[in-house]
Amino acid sequence: MIKDLAIDPAGQVSFTFELTTPACPVRDRFQTMARQLVSDLPGVTAVDLKMTANVQAPFNGRGHEAAIPGVKHVIAVGSGKGGVGKSTVAVNLAASLQLAGARTGLLDADIYGPSVPGMLGVTEQPKVRDQKLVPLEAFGLKIISIGLLAGADKAMIWRGPLVARAIEQMLGDVMWGELDYLVVDLPPGTGDASLTLAQAVPLTGVAIVCTPQEAALRIALKALQMFRGLNVPPLGLIENMSHYVCAQCGHDEAIFKRGGGRETAERLAVPFLGEIPIDPRVVIGGDSGRPIVELHSTGTGPFTADRDRIKQLRLAA
Ligand SMILES: Nc1ncnc2c1ncn2[C@@H]1O[C@H](COP(=O)(O)OP(=O)(O)O)[C@@H](O)[C@H]1O
Ligand SMILES: [Mg+2]
Repeated sequence: MIKDLAIDPAGQVSFTFELTTPACPVRDRFQTMARQLVSDLPGVTAVDLKMTANVQAPFNGRGHEAAIPGVKHVIAVGSGKGGVGKSTVAVNLAASLQLAGARTGLLDADIYGPSVPGMLGVTEQPKVRDQKLVPLEAFGLKIISIGLLAGADKAMIWRGPLVARAIEQMLGDVMWGELDYLVVDLPPGTGDASLTLAQAVPLTGVAIVCTPQEAALRIALKALQMFRGLNVPPLGLIENMSHYVCAQCGHDEAIFKRGGGRETAERLAVPFLGEIPIDPRVVIGGDSGRPIVELHSTGTGPFTADRDRIKQLRLAA
């Protein structure tokens, strides 16, 4: 991770610290520690430290191979059933990666309810150039949705081969350009369409969204088992609508049940990625076409890195 190390005779040390992702949650800690450790060495008079990031495609036994040419990682967001907040999580995950400085795309492959265009406020039809679709852009994200292609208001009947073809097109016939991450909003459930999609897309991994109720968790468990059966590595479980924090008095109410997501993750031996509370601002963000992480990007916390630093990182990368 240490590049361009130079030590001048006066004791000035300069080096670059290259992270594996700009969205590294411990970036600041690495920076402080590296600076401290080097400063403490005898003879060192000054430290010039640059932080950069270089996302590597997954290692497949031979080398680091991009899933789609130019696209390093394809990360799916799935769920056992609809209405648990899968699209909300996919949209905010993509927006967070983008805010952290990663080049990010979002593919809405939910044939049952493509809701990404609404959540990001994009309505135009993607243009075709050199026989390839040009993704739409919002908040720096590149976006393609099956809803935009099929016509958002049309009820489509999707049969297996048609789904496979549509997905192939959305992955292969799109000018994604250079992306660190392509986030895919999968259809819910373990039906035919999900299976086809999970098989058609070369996935780095899948994050499963669930809600805390027993029934919803049992369904999430089924989804995880399906992805394991397809050799798609589970990245972990995200519990959405975990609890409600009262805006008036601050009381924290576990409306459904507490700890269910964490227990299920432990039982399945997958990482528990976190809990998202029920928050009316999430709905406002979704309905107004501006994801909550964009609306409330304050420059603090791991998901809201400040924009100047992002620009620097990106330039450096
Ligand atoms: N944490 C949350 N707090 C409040 N509302 C939420 C939260 N997560 C999702 N919602 C809302 O629930 C509805 C369903 O979410 P959506 O992401 O479309 O689910 P799915 O894609 O799983 O069907 C949307 O109106 C969304 O704004
Ligand atoms: Mg959805």
